[in-house]
Amino acid sequence: MAMRGHLVWLLWPLLLLPQGHAQFPRECATLDALRRGECCPDLNPGPEPGTDSCGSSTGRGRCDVVTADFRPHGPQYPHDGRDDREAWPTRFFNRTCHCNGNFSGYNCGKCKPGWRGSSCDQRVLTVRRNLLDLSKEERDRFIRALDVAKRTIHPHLVIATRRSEELLGTDGNTPQFENISIYNYFVWSHYYSVKKTFLGEGQESFGAVDFSHEGPAFLTWHRYHLLQLEKDMQ
Ligand SMILES: *[C@@H]1O[C@H](CO)[C@@H](O)[C@H](O)[C@H]1NC(C)=O
Ligand SMILES: *[C@@H]1O[C@H](CO)[C@@H](O)[C@H](O)[C@H]1NC(C)=O
Ligand SMILES: *[C@@H]1O[C@H](CO)[C@@H](O)[C@H](O)[C@H]1NC(C)=O
Repeated sequence: MAMRGHLVWLLWPLLLLPQGHAQFPRECATLDALRRGECCPDLNPGPEPGTDSCGSSTGRGRCDVVTADFRPHGPQYPHDGRDDREAWPTRFFNRTCHCNGNFSGYNCGKCKPGWRGSSCDQRVLTVRRNLLDLSKEERDRFIRALDVAKRTIHPHLVIATRRSEELLGTDGNTPQFENISIYNYFVWSHYYSVKKTFLGEGQESFGAVDFSHEGPAFLTWHRYHLLQLEKDMQ
């Protein structure tokens, strides 16, 4: 377990990069974005594409090179370069949005947790109530919201259903992405962080390293999931 933990420690900072939230923003699941290796959507798309990339026209952010951790893995992960999750998201994109100040999100259209308002300069005070203390009405409202999340297609994110080598389809021109519900997105991103490494047809997949459990990444990564779910529910 300690050995496994070491690799996870090397990987977790990558998972927590602000732009690492995605599976993939809808606007970047295109042939053009994937070919250019750039995921920098316009926050307010105008007639000319690219004029408000990352909210740059209002100073919210800019499109810039991804900083990933390319340090060698520990000996417990001998399959260097075989998994799309290494140095995330550079197998897909090398340029993404870098947001200024309290701005956040794949297109800098959101605020960092703890901030709100059009300039993201008003503090949010979140009260996390004990579920057991809610009235029946409040609890029903909460469950209804979860149910809507379960049935509503995620407006901003889609999931990649193939590895990077096969992501453009058999004809090399058809990106393989699928819609997912808001709730199931959390199920998927959790699965994606723990799934085994595919080593080839007919070969057993490598599962001796879990990218988000059994190590120090566990607490931060799962806190992050909860924080995102909380924001979506709000
Ligand atoms: C991103 O950069 C890395 C390192 O230079 C390279 O291996 C990878 O192919 C690049 N990815 C894309 C999508 O261009
Ligand atoms: C967030 O906004 C507050 C209020 O304007 C400001 O004091 C703080 O410096 C901002 N944080 C960052 C990281 O810019
Ligand atoms: C995914 O959802 C969008 C928006 O609702 C829709 O336009 C699109 O056709 C859907 N794509 C697939 C593959 O179901």
